[in-house]
Amino acid sequence: MQVTVREGLIQQQAAELVVVNLFEGVTVPGGATGAVDRALGGAISERASAGDPLGKFCQMSMFYPRGAMPAARVLVVGLGKAETLTLDRLRQIAAAVARHVRAQGVVRYLSIVHGAGIAGFDPGQATQALVEGTLLGAYRFAGYGARPEEEPGELVELTLVTSDASALEAIREGAETGRIIAQATNYARDLVNQPANFMTPTDLAHAAESMARERNILCEVLGPGDMQELGMGALLGVAQGSNQEPRFIAMEYDGKPGIAPVIVVGKGITFDSGGISIKPSDGMDRMKDDMAGAAATLGVMRAVADLHLPIRVIGLVAATENLPSGKALKPGDVVKAMGGLTIEIISTDAEGRLILADALGYAARCEPAAVVDLATLTGGCVVALGTVAAGLMGSDQALVDALRDASQDTGELVWQLPLFERYAEQIKSDVADVKNSGGRAASAITAAKFLERFSEGYPWAHLDIAGLAWTNETEGYVPRGATGYGVRLLVEWLQKRALGA
Ligand code: BES
Ligand code: MN
Ligand code: ZN
Repeated sequence: MQVTVREGLIQQQAAELVVVNLFEGVTVPGGATGAVDRALGGAISERASAGDPLGKFCQMSMFYPRGAMPAARVLVVGLGKAETLTLDRLRQIAAAVARHVRAQGVVRYLSIVHGAGIAGFDPGQATQALVEGTLLGAYRFAGYGARPEEEPGELVELTLVTSDASALEAIREGAETGRIIAQATNYARDLVNQPANFMTPTDLAHAAESMARERNILCEVLGPGDMQELGMGALLGVAQGSNQEPRFIAMEYDGKPGIAPVIVVGKGITFDSGGISIKPSDGMDRMKDDMAGAAATLGVMRAVADLHLPIRVIGLVAATENLPSGKALKPGDVVKAMGGLTIEIISTDAEGRLILADALGYAARCEPAAVVDLATLTGGCVVALGTVAAGLMGSDQALVDALRDASQDTGELVWQLPLFERYAEQIKSDVADVKNSGGRAASAITAAKFLERFSEGYPWAHLDIAGLAWTNETEGYVPRGATGYGVRLLVEWLQKRALGA
């Protein structure tokens, strides 16, 4: 879908459909909607005055100008109460509009920038939110089946129209930023929505290589031999149960040479059966999403490169399947991670922290300024926080706070959980330095305590995204399926960091 920006008066545009808006409680609109209302002989204010809830949040009301304006249709979208409008609500509104327009069989439409006028949002930010919401809300995974005949075609073009020449530049920039971030998120969604037989560790590495090749990103892919040399015994241990070879992907975007890099680490379990500690078969198909952290890492790399951020970012992905077999890791086995620490395997289903241990060990060699890992790590985090917020933990409170700040603007919610030292008791082993499961109690925290052991020497934060990677119901700008959670959050954080540093 293309997004373009144009200066002009919305009521004078020839189009199949134009979008304007109305706040709840307003009966006589001002601004662009007011101009359209006058062109329509008061049709909008008439219905609003009669009590039609045109301004209700995400309410869709269609008007047919019948020659009174060059446009064939006018869609009035409700913005809700003025005091409740936020950037995140703007995204939700844009998503609802995009899907509504698409359902009419219309593929090209014009819109004003909601929230940029009287509502007083910064025009660049409002535009970014509008474009993000549109592209994110219109996302559909192509899949492998035939498309149902009755399903409407893809949207082709959104044109943003503004009468404010002084805001044109900010609107253009906001549109471009929004496009880049939304496309990077949809890219991550695509990777996660792929079935595991089309998204093996090798496939994931190929995806990273071609994404990197198209932009200014270095990409190195390691196989089992390299892992052996580096001493990645934990990643190799998880991988040994599968016929698919593991891959370790290291990407680097250098937008500011010479500074210490920021590292994003993603869990890339392309399918998690649990291994010998096998999961119940009900719902196991979902476990193709266990590489959502890896997908978000690729999405972040793609976005920071496309945005040309003045920052140095390294993306690390440990990728493998977790399957049972005659060669698989067994409960009670001991493996040695890259940094030299030994791990007793209690559950082969606690595989995410094993592969992350090696990735965090690899990160130490890059002398990072900060490391953030993203992982669908524990069912316990889903029990604690549901599908609303990701679990956020870390060894560096300034880093944790910076991520919380970024969360505010993106609507990708996080909630900090404590890393009290007493939780470490649960992962003490009799035969190794640490064990990989601390049982059911506080399992999101004990998993993070485990990771903490492997992230000594640099500021580190961890996002447990187990509840956020996937949604069964379309909600606002997040359609059913893979969510792409984490891309927008981390890009926002990196943008702020690039400005500050
Ligand atoms: N990938 C799972 C976590 C998960 C569970 C993600 C549900 C999404 C939905 C992870 O590898 C896992 O199996 N964790 C175990 C750890 C336990 C054995 C200590 C869990 O949380 O049950
Ligand atoms: Mn598991
Ligand atoms: Zn897993």
